[in-house]
Amino acid sequence: MLLLNVDEIRRDFPLLERVVGGRKIVYFDNAASTQKPIQVIKTMEEFMKNHYANVHRGLHTLSQEASKLYEEAHEVLAKFINAYSWREVIFVNNTTEALNTIAYGWALWNIREGDEIVVTVMDHHSNMLPWRLIAQLKNARVKYLDITDDGYLRYDLLDQLITEKTKIVAFPLASNVLGTINDAKRIARKAHEVGAIVVADGAQSVPHIPTNVRELEVDFLAFSGHKMLGPTGSGVLWGREDILEEMKPFKVGGDTIKDVTLDAVVWHDLPWRFEAGTPNIVEGIGLAEAARYLARIGMDNIHRHEEELVRYTLKRFEEFAGEVKYYGPLNPADKTGVVSFNVKGLNHHTVGAALDLFGIAVRTGMHCAHPLHYRLGITGTVRASFYLYNTLEEVDYFIESLEKIVLLKGRFVEQVPSHVCTGT
Ligand code: ALA
Repeated sequence: MLLLNVDEIRRDFPLLERVVGGRKIVYFDNAASTQKPIQVIKTMEEFMKNHYANVHRGLHTLSQEASKLYEEAHEVLAKFINAYSWREVIFVNNTTEALNTIAYGWALWNIREGDEIVVTVMDHHSNMLPWRLIAQLKNARVKYLDITDDGYLRYDLLDQLITEKTKIVAFPLASNVLGTINDAKRIARKAHEVGAIVVADGAQSVPHIPTNVRELEVDFLAFSGHKMLGPTGSGVLWGREDILEEMKPFKVGGDTIKDVTLDAVVWHDLPWRFEAGTPNIVEGIGLAEAARYLARIGMDNIHRHEEELVRYTLKRFEEFAGEVKYYGPLNPADKTGVVSFNVKGLNHHTVGAALDLFGIAVRTGMHCAHPLHYRLGITGTVRASFYLYNTLEEVDYFIESLEKIVLLKGRFVEQVPSHVCTGT
């Protein structure tokens, strides 16, 4: 029995009426990007129709209205993650930009030769490659926290990995492949013992479980709007105010300053110092509406809904008697609604393309987490990822479709579609 009133929720999502493969689409690609409710679409449309102007520049009515709405959007997001102040909330394009902002605004200025940065093997490339580039620039070293075979972080290795040399510890709050929800406090406490800063990639957790930055004990949090019912081009970098005050802007130019002379610059107040150029105003306002929508449903309820969908999927996977291999924690309470798997004897892309024929959208490949897949000894997975509008009936249809694919597998021409970037 599912907790959410999914019938009512689905009425808010026009795209879920789309027909693909002769039936209403089953959208299981939510970890890549989610669909948008009509409330978000209408808010953005209404803003563009009636209030649109640039922010922070004009004294005229429209600019003031736009500025007020844009600032309020920061407040909504601050409340959503229980930040101390909206000044700690920087609007960015996406998680990747947020993490690069920390890398080039904080790490570039603070990492020295011989320092160490700890990340995990389950990190998305976006929370791995910026640290590697900084390490290369500064002659520092990146070290990796391993996982267990069932997809949990090896907390037992933290003591030996995090040392006096460690300056940054970065990790995902939830894995985009395994769904594992990681123990942020445990990592943060160990990192803080040696004075390292703690960077949490919340791209796969903030849309799916409650987020309280006061309890996480991390120093930075990054997440994307498009994975939480908001538009693309929206996202948040949250940071502790004292650290942000000391951090250099990564991108500089319009709106980042209070004053500039030929010799000096006085940086703007937080968060504007870090939002260079005309920001994504429409998208930021859309993201706030998405956060309001999620808050109304309740993040705890969304988590429990996904948990039920995962529990049911894993139970039904047992019917495949070894034909389907699942990757990640077996306990649905320990994870978000992500189910990655492979079908024995079939390439992951072939399974994804076959599911598309049934109107089921999943992602296939290495999901921007190549080192994790190599650690698991595989070259890719099929990933079904659920959200608040998915149903048990959709899982049943997915399992029935998968059964047909398994039955017919000898007849498939293996394929790696040219439009799919094979590695990502
Ligand atoms: N990072 C997104 C994913 O995991 C795109 O699919």
